[in-house]
Amino acid sequence: MDRIEAVSKVTIPWILERKLRGEKIACLTAYDYPTARLVDEAGVDILLVGDSLGEVVLGYDSTLPVTADEILHHLRAARRGTRRALVVADLPYGSYHVGREEALRVAVRFLKEGGAEAVKLEGGRKRGALIRRLVREEIPVMGHIGLTPQSVHALGGHRVQGKTLESAAELLADAQAVEDAGAFALVLEGIPRELAGIITRRLRIPTVGIGAGPDCDGQILVLHDIIGLTFGPGAKFVRPYANARELLRAACESYREDVARGRYPSDQESYHWSQSLCEHFEKEVSRPA
Ligand code: KIV
Repeated sequence: MDRIEAVSKVTIPWILERKLRGEKIACLTAYDYPTARLVDEAGVDILLVGDSLGEVVLGYDSTLPVTADEILHHLRAARRGTRRALVVADLPYGSYHVGREEALRVAVRFLKEGGAEAVKLEGGRKRGALIRRLVREEIPVMGHIGLTPQSVHALGGHRVQGKTLESAAELLADAQAVEDAGAFALVLEGIPRELAGIITRRLRIPTVGIGAGPDCDGQILVLHDIIGLTFGPGAKFVRPYANARELLRAACESYREDVARGRYPSDQESYHWSQSLCEHFEKEVSRPA
């Protein structure tokens, strides 16, 4: 049975329990108040203020330029629109690469000033010590391995990872290291279904797939991708649920045409004086000076 009604606030223990019960976890990104409200009202369990906001709403050509201040700005707005979902904020590129203390400072800001309930960061074994440090300071961490967009240059583009036995073994070791360090969940991005299934069965913490097949404990997608509000060709794993781009374009075109032809606003869409004020004013202006 779907237990959306049964919990009024998603918590980390509830997410962990979900895996034990074999119940899937639905996650989406959101970067502002209206979309966060809609995602939350739809009963999505985890709302990620991802650094994908850089490409999706800020118009950058990768996630690399996104700053901690930009995440914080969007996190606050999304937080105000969220009641039930667990809010996770992405640590952007550069915020955890220059030292663990700097990473801790940014993560603390996300919780204290932005209302995040957890942070997400990319990388496997090399992030073990950092994840331990954050978890020790009461900051829940979601890991993220596979096709990690912040490593776009090192990976030579957005390429599916774990396609050879060697790289699959590396990812398996990364997944185990993230769990051992204390993360409460792990995003698996852009890896073969078979590998995602093996990792999911080996870990005690839930895996959340994006382009990793159906055998993960949960799924995450970029909201704007599934509602058709991103531009350019979509990835193979993105299922379109709506075409907001066409809907919004058509609405804007209709509005422009109505204004151009004098059809907007109508009399009903205008404010009016009362009858007595009209009469009084007419008398006043028609009186000789
Ligand atoms: O930034 C993001 O939106 C992400 C997810 C899609 C996993 O990292």
